[in-house]
Amino acid sequence: MGKIFVDACFGKETPYTPVWMMRQAGRYLPEYMEVRAEAGNFLNLCHNPKLACEVTLQPIDIVGVDAAIMFSDILVVPNEMGMELDFIKGEGPIFANPIRDEKALDALIGGEEAANKLTYVYDTLKLIRAELADDKALIGFTGSPWTLATYMIEGQGTKTYNIVKKEIYSNPEFMHKLLAKVTEVIKFYLEKQIEAGADVVQIFDSWAAALEESKYFEFSWSYMKEIAAHIKAKYPHIPIIMFPKGIPAYLDKIDGDFDVFGVDWATPMAYAKEKLGDKYVLQGNMEPCRLYSQEATKECVESLAETMKDGRHIFNLGHGILPDVSVENAKYFVKLCQEVSKR
Ligand code: CP3
Repeated sequence: MGKIFVDACFGKETPYTPVWMMRQAGRYLPEYMEVRAEAGNFLNLCHNPKLACEVTLQPIDIVGVDAAIMFSDILVVPNEMGMELDFIKGEGPIFANPIRDEKALDALIGGEEAANKLTYVYDTLKLIRAELADDKALIGFTGSPWTLATYMIEGQGTKTYNIVKKEIYSNPEFMHKLLAKVTEVIKFYLEKQIEAGADVVQIFDSWAAALEESKYFEFSWSYMKEIAAHIKAKYPHIPIIMFPKGIPAYLDKIDGDFDVFGVDWATPMAYAKEKLGDKYVLQGNMEPCRLYSQEATKECVESLAETMKDGRHIFNLGHGILPDVSVENAKYFVKLCQEVSKR
């Protein structure tokens, strides 16, 4: 399934370089807003496989990307580990009772039991796979243990990360215990996504840049690597994409058993290629705000195509698409990527 995309993830030659867009479903699409209104709110939409399938397929039909990323959110995992979650308009996600002590940590549901509560995600994947054209790949995903643990401890987005970093420096055993617990759930979660039809899985480490180098490798990358090794051992035919956002200075130390490295927009692609291009396929990395201008989009796509002309590349944005981007410009980006890479 989705052969071109999957082959590209493994660095095999493909007729053109495939393209998808991070957060490709969402508020920039009027069709998404209609379905979200029908669902009532964002979490209801995640819990409803029929509607989640519908919004997953919208960008395939409307903007013509080569892969579908299942519609869900990284925060459904802590939610099903027992944490009450709300998405508040204008403020983003909020956990009412953040994890601040051992007692709260021990009360979290762990392992397969937590993963089994995410049936709506697996049902969504099954519906998508049944409806998705054979030549399109289906991407499953998870947040990294570190990014999820940040939300679980802070309770919401943060600029300073002071609450979670206090644990890193003053109580590292507590932090490792939480990260290990989340890691176990994620291993089962990704396995079940693959069993339900995911052709590729991606690990989002959105808050990678919050940590200094030694702490990054100790508290985040080591757990991501552990998950990747676990999945590779069981499902060698499933490509794994790692996306740690904002750590260009640490690229020399990146290693592990995965296939694709997601390059964020602030890391020059030529630099990522020099550091990692021999070992991994690179994904990315147009600055999402370039989508405001077709001229700016064209300049970047041409430059990426030139830098990555030897292949081993997947076109993508270097982070999530913004809600006020025009659908016309999103379509333009996708079409242009497919055209330039056929030359
Ligand atoms: O199309 C897709 O890419 C698939 C769906 C997807 C969503 N979230 C839907 C969503 C994916 C892959 C995510 C991942 C996610 N969620 C990440 C990692 C990727 C990244 O961007 O770094 C993170 C950090 C989250 C947590 C999260 N979820 C935040 C911070 C927010 C609020 C953002 C905002 O702009 O309000 C969400 C909500 C969310 N997740 C929306 C969507 C479409 C917006 C909800 C809405 O109002 O409709």
